[in-house]
Amino acid sequence: MKYPIIFDTDPGVDDAQAIAIALRHPDIDLLGMTTTFGNVDIDTATHNALLLGELAGQPVPVAQGSACPMVKPRHPAPKHIHGDNGLGNIPLPPVTGQAESRNAAQFIVDTVRARPGEVSLVAVGPLGNLAAALQLAPEIVNLVRQVVVMGGSIREGGNVTPVAEANIFNDAHAAQKVLTAGWPLTLVGLDVTHRCILTPEHMSRIEAAQGSLGRVLAGSYDFYRAFYRDALGIDGCCPHDSVALAWLVRPELFKTTRGHLTVVTEGAAEGQTILAAEGRQFIEPRWSGTPLAQVCLEVDGAAVSQWIADTLG
Ligand code: RIB
Ligand code: CA
Repeated sequence: MKYPIIFDTDPGVDDAQAIAIALRHPDIDLLGMTTTFGNVDIDTATHNALLLGELAGQPVPVAQGSACPMVKPRHPAPKHIHGDNGLGNIPLPPVTGQAESRNAAQFIVDTVRARPGEVSLVAVGPLGNLAAALQLAPEIVNLVRQVVVMGGSIREGGNVTPVAEANIFNDAHAAQKVLTAGWPLTLVGLDVTHRCILTPEHMSRIEAAQGSLGRVLAGSYDFYRAFYRDALGIDGCCPHDSVALAWLVRPELFKTTRGHLTVVTEGAAEGQTILAAEGRQFIEPRWSGTPLAQVCLEVDGAAVSQWIADTLG
């Protein structure tokens, strides 16, 4: 396996598909999942993470994490997008396994310390667990292989406000800590995830190939698809969280740029991610004061959607 990862997630329809990829792709070794509030409440997130591993016949450790943002009150879960149960309100089988006794931050710290330089953190929900892990053990900044965050938007505009993407908006204070920590970080935001469309045909292939897991992915996709038809006028949906894994495994499908990230934590632009390009001088120096990070700005969206369907189909 080329990529040992911890997947930090709030499942969530598109999270569920990404979890299936993390479990199935031959180059990814899913060491465990850490859960956060976001698309659903924290107990539902943990339930769904356990369930998806069991449906795949590959249960992995699941450690429960943040139940709410670090500072502000919690924004209501987007039930109109992911359903009350996070998986499009389809009936779900019972779960037999249990979450780890360690919390998410401790799981991240222990796992990264045990394999210095090897573990990639792939975060696809609000970023409280990564912020808590940084607080617990700041040295993990130098021990991770890389951090991939599905979140933010540089040029595309937002999906919960005109400027803010959901994962960053849901805990902007945590995001500010994580995106400016100085570890090797790539932001996979709406600039690229909105260019990737998973069609009903892709989904039929996945349903046919993935057994009971495929039936849950397809059933939840049907619910999620209605949101995309109304919001973006497309027949299909954006597989946001799977795009973060595509970046990990197929970076040649993306174009990136480097710069300094800032997250707006207060006011009307709360949750906005701002990029100051590397080397560019501004009269006001604060935008260039954070460590360098990498941001995905362009993608071959058709190739990413095909990669998803091929991985699961
Ligand atoms: O903005 C897209 C992100 O928000 C994805 O992680 C999706 O699961 C939603 O929570
Ligand atoms: Ca998510």
